[in-house]
Amino acid sequence: MSAAIELQQLGQKAASCTACGLAPSRTQVVFGVGAFDADIMFVGEAPGRNEDLQGEPFVGAAGKLLDRLLTEIGVDREDVYIANVLKCRPPGNRDPRTEEIDACKGYLRTQMELIDPKVVVTLGNFATKLLLKRNVGITRLRGQVYPWWRRHIVPTFHPAAALRSGDRVTDQMREDFALVSQLLSAAPDVPVGAESEETVEQLGLFG
Ligand code: URA
Repeated sequence: MSAAIELQQLGQKAASCTACGLAPSRTQVVFGVGAFDADIMFVGEAPGRNEDLQGEPFVGAAGKLLDRLLTEIGVDREDVYIANVLKCRPPGNRDPRTEEIDACKGYLRTQMELIDPKVVVTLGNFATKLLLKRNVGITRLRGQVYPWWRRHIVPTFHPAAALRSGDRVTDQMREDFALVSQLLSAAPDVPVGAESEETVEQLGLFG
């Protein structure tokens, strides 16, 4: 079965998910959007109000900034894949809870395996902590590339944080997006990350 079909089937399964307490308050599940063969995959935190209503990640103000930063490195939103750690909106946009992340992370893991992007960009603390398993804030982790299964993880700020904090954070996001661009153009088919065929599990992702 092709990755596109598997992804579509997983999305259909997720649409009726009741694995955590967010199901009753959501308008709909926001599974993910974009190219199933994308080189770049973004992982955000959780749908907000607009995303819950429209069924697509990053369609609000934070999404507009994401689109702009992508345009600046010459990439169209349609050519990347965008998903969140949580597929359902936490009421009032509160932080995701551990039990919600645990219930939901299998979807993200399979999305990553099926899309198999060259670069995963984690947006903000929740996505970065889930994937990198480090108890260090995004401010210290960003600006660097981390190996992932012979590919790359590039952690950066959440665009909502940039909107709140202003130009300095946006400029740092710009630097991180430039890093993504460099990774893709420097050696598009040459895996640079980990030396060996480490699996997602061995690297401790989603542990
Ligand atoms: N913030 C996120 O983390 N994800 C979205 O989809 C929208 C806002």
